[in-house]
Amino acid sequence: MARLDGYAVLITGASSGIGAALARELATRGARLALCARRVERLAAVARDCRQALVLPADLAEPSAAEGVVRQAHAELGRLDAVVLNAGYGLARTAAETSDAEWQAILRVNLLATAAGLRAAVPLMRAQQPRDGWRGRLVIVSSSLARRAVPDTAAYSATKAAQLALAEAARVELAAERIAVCSVHPVRTETEFFATCERISGRPLSFRRPVPTQSAERVARCIAARLRDPPPEIWPHAPSRWLALAAAACPRLADRVLAGYRR
Ligand SMILES: NC(=O)c1ccc[n+]([C@@H]2O[C@H](COP(=O)([O-])OP(=O)(O)OC[C@H]3O[C@@H](n4cnc5c(N)ncnc54)[C@H](OP(=O)(O)O)[C@@H]3O)[C@@H](O)[C@H]2O)c1
Repeated sequence: MARLDGYAVLITGASSGIGAALARELATRGARLALCARRVERLAAVARDCRQALVLPADLAEPSAAEGVVRQAHAELGRLDAVVLNAGYGLARTAAETSDAEWQAILRVNLLATAAGLRAAVPLMRAQQPRDGWRGRLVIVSSSLARRAVPDTAAYSATKAAQLALAEAARVELAAERIAVCSVHPVRTETEFFATCERISGRPLSFRRPVPTQSAERVARCIAARLRDPPPEIWPHAPSRWLALAAAACPRLADRVLAGYRR
C-alpha cells in the first residue's frame, strides 16, 4: 500500500460515496484531511472514522464557497499536498427538457465550484516546497461520461466533459510548476448519487440493460494508490476507457447502442 504519511488533503463531497470512501482510504495511508460538504453530521461521522480530519461545511453552489474552503483547509493544515474536487450531483433530464435554472444550478456545483477550487489552490501550491516531486496535486472527479454523453443526462454529461477539458488544459499549464492535475472517470458507482439524482429530477436514472458498476471503495483505492504521483487520468473500470474512445470514434454506432439502454 502506497503510504501518504503527513500529506495534507482537502476532499470536497466527503459526506458520502466516493468522497467519504476516499477520506477513509487516505486516513489509513496516514494523510491529514479536511472534509467539505453541506451535511455536517455526515461529515462529522466520516471524520470520526479518520484519524485526523477537519470538518469544513459549505454549500459549493455559493459563488465564493469553494475558494473559502480551500483557503481554510490550507490555513488549518499548513499546506495542501492534494485537493480532490469531487462534489457533484446528477440530473435525469433530456436536453430539450432541461430548464435554464437546472443548467445554472448544475453548472455552479459540478463545474464552477471545481474551477474555483482549482483557481484558489494554485497560488497556494505555487508557494509550497515540493513533496515527493510535486508542489501540489489537483484531482478532479469527472465521469466516464466525460468522453461520450449518454441520453437523459445532457446537462450532467456536459458538466463532466467540461471538467475533463478543465483538467486537460490546466495539466499542461501547471506541469512546469510541478503542480499535477488528474481527472478521474468512474463508471456507475454504488453511492447515494442515484437516490439524490431521483430526488432532484423527480424520476429515476435507470437503464434497460445492465451497465458496468463498481464500489465507491474501489474508486477510492484507485485514486489513493496514484495520489503521490498522479497520472493524467484515472479510469477505475479500465475497459470503459477504451469503450469511451471507441464511442467517440464511431458516433453513429454509439448512438444506436446507447438508444438500446434507454427506458
Ligand atoms: N456514482 C456514480 O455512478 C458516479 C459515476 C461517475 C462519476 N461520479 C461523480 O463522483 C462524484 C461523487 O459522487 P458520488 O457518486 O460519491 O455521489 P454522492 O454519494 O451523492 O456524493 C456526492 C457528494 O457531493 C456533495 N455535494 C453535492 N452538492 C454539494 C454542494 N452544493 N455543496 C457541497 N457539497 C455538495 C454531497 O454532500 P452534501 O449532500 O452533504 O452536500 C456528497 O458528499 C460526483 O462528482 C459524481 O458526478 C459518480
